[in-house]
Amino acid sequence: MHIKTNLSKKIISWYDNNKRVLPWRVHYNSPRKLYYRLLSEFMLQQTQVKTVIPYFKKFTKEIKTLKKLSSASERKVLKLWEGLGYYRRCRNLMATAKIVTKQKKSILPKTLDDIKKLPGIGDYTGNILLALVYNQPRLALDGNVKRVFSRIFNKHEKKIDFEKIIEKNRKKLFFSKRNSDFAEAMMEFGAIICKPKEPSCNICPVNKICKFSNSRKNTKLTDKIKTNKKSYDIFCYLNKNKQIGLTKKNDIGFLKECSLPIIKKQSRKNKFKNWNFLCNYKNSISNKRLNINLYYKFSNKIPKDLNWFSIYDNKEFTPTFAKKIFKQVENLY
Ligand code: ADE
Repeated sequence: MHIKTNLSKKIISWYDNNKRVLPWRVHYNSPRKLYYRLLSEFMLQQTQVKTVIPYFKKFTKEIKTLKKLSSASERKVLKLWEGLGYYRRCRNLMATAKIVTKQKKSILPKTLDDIKKLPGIGDYTGNILLALVYNQPRLALDGNVKRVFSRIFNKHEKKIDFEKIIEKNRKKLFFSKRNSDFAEAMMEFGAIICKPKEPSCNICPVNKICKFSNSRKNTKLTDKIKTNKKSYDIFCYLNKNKQIGLTKKNDIGFLKECSLPIIKKQSRKNKFKNWNFLCNYKNSISNKRLNINLYYKFSNKIPKDLNWFSIYDNKEFTPTFAKKIFKQVENLY
C-alpha cells in the first residue's frame, strides 16, 4: 500500500493552521519538554484530550518538574490524579520518573527497546515519546492514526498491517524532518477532521488521495465509536456506623487496584438471597458504558477480603466510581 508523497506535507500544513493550543505542547527547546510530554502521554493513555487538560494543569501547578515528581509522596501524586481513573498509570508514571531522574541523569532512553523497559511504557507511548522528545521518525498507532490510514486505503483496520505501511513508506512519511509535529499532527487530524462518526471530508486537506472520501456515496462509515457495554452487580455490606465493606479483589480489569464493594458480572437470574435491591444506575468510564444494579445488606460481619470504610471518608484516595456508590448508599441512613 503506497502513500502519496504529499500526505505528510498536507497534514503538517493543516496542523500548523489548525492545531489546538494544549498545555503540554511546549517549544521543542523548552526545559519542561520531557516532563510535560511524559506526564501528558501517561494521562492521555485511554483518556481524551479534553478530559486530561484540567488534570494536567492542576498537576503541573503543584509539581513543577520531573525531579519534584520523582521525590513527591505517592499520596500527594495520587490525590492530584484522583478522578482521572486507571490509577496504575499514575503509579507507573511515578516509577518511571524515579528511574529517569535517579538512574538515567534525567535523560529519556533513545531506543524503543530501552524506553519500553520503563514502567507503563509500551509500543504506543514509547513511539510517541521518542517522536515528541527526540524528533524520531515514528508514529504512535492510536485509534485516530489507524482510522486515518484505514480511510485513506478504504480498508477495514483489521485488514491493515500498519507497521508495514509505515516501514514501506518511511521516506515519504518522514520527508520533512518535522517528525515530532507529524506524529502529533496525525493524532490531531484524526481527532478533528477524520473523526470516527462524521468525518469532515469536505474540508479535508487530503480528500483527493483518500479512497474513503472518493467513494463515500456507496460506502458506509468504516467504524463507529467502539463502546463497550458491561453490566455489573455491586454488593454493599453496610453497618450501623455508616461504614461500607470494601475489597481490592474485584474481577474487573480496569478497576483492579481500587478499593470497592464486591463487584460481579451481572447474572441473568436475580437470585440474591438476603440482598436488597437499592437502585440501577448507569455510569461511563472511558469507552465503557456500565449498567449497574446496586444491592445492599446490613451486617456486622463481613467476608475476610473486606475491610470497613466510612462512606464519608473521602480524605483517603477514593476513586470517583466508589464515591458515586457511596452517594447512593447514603440514602439508606
Ligand atoms: N493523544 C495522545 N497523545 C496526544 C497528543 N500529544 N496530542 C493529541 N492527542 C494525543
